[in-house]
Amino acid sequence: MQREQMVVRSDDARLSELEAAGWVVVARSWAAQLTASRVDVHALSTLVQRGRRHGDIREIGDADLASVLALDAATLADYPGGAATQHNPLTRSSARVTPVRRGFGAFGDSARAVAVTFVDVDGNHAETDFTVVAAEFRGLGVGSAVKAASVLALLRDGVEVFRTGGAAENSAIFASNISLGYEIDEDWVTLLSPPGVVETTQAQR
Ligand SMILES: CC(C)(COP(=O)(O)OP(=O)(O)OC[C@H]1O[C@@H](n2cnc3c(N)ncnc32)[C@H](O)[C@@H]1OP(=O)(O)O)[C@@H](O)C(=O)NCCC(=O)NCCS
Repeated sequence: MQREQMVVRSDDARLSELEAAGWVVVARSWAAQLTASRVDVHALSTLVQRGRRHGDIREIGDADLASVLALDAATLADYPGGAATQHNPLTRSSARVTPVRRGFGAFGDSARAVAVTFVDVDGNHAETDFTVVAAEFRGLGVGSAVKAASVLALLRDGVEVFRTGGAAENSAIFASNISLGYEIDEDWVTLLSPPGVVETTQAQR
């Protein structure tokens, strides 16, 4: 029988009630913000430049679709955390870039995508959907480089507020966002229902 997951802010008044009722914390996550006035263009440009040692850092185009889907398929099992930071596999539709869904990547030989970051844009707000680097390219600055490239491009296009987040145990994405200038402003917990709750709920249907 599948148990329910619920994501609440760590300062949510319901948290202690849920824990008293048997819900258990199974994951922690955070959200962070960077505002245009705080972007250090020089520092971000340096991160992009470093990433260029390992590939061409640029905006994703329609011709990259197959390569981006292949990278996503190869890395689906690599996202730590619970429901709050779950990554939904890309589809041909969600991998397609548009003015409100921008993508930036690092491309190696034969235009192979070795890292991508996708960002959903709503007016002057941008929220990172996910960032991923091919396993053999991790820890080389490529993830930070594609995220930095996305911030710089969106900044030029008038975005003023950048938001992102991650699982508490994901040290790499945390360090990456801090180096980009993001500031943590929300903490979240993912709770798992006690075994009986879903059974009761289903029995009532
Ligand atoms: C998270 C991820 C995108 C980071 O990309 P990356 O290219 O490996 O990271 P970088 O090399 O740019 O390093 C970024 C920072 O994390 C640190 N770091 C890298 N790997 C680390 C690790 N395994 N543990 C702890 N810190 C790590 C680096 O030292 C660097 O810190 P600094 O800026 O203070 O020097 C990559 O590891 C990945 O694809 N993970 C699987 C998918 C995922 O979890 N995505 C994030 C959620 S959307």
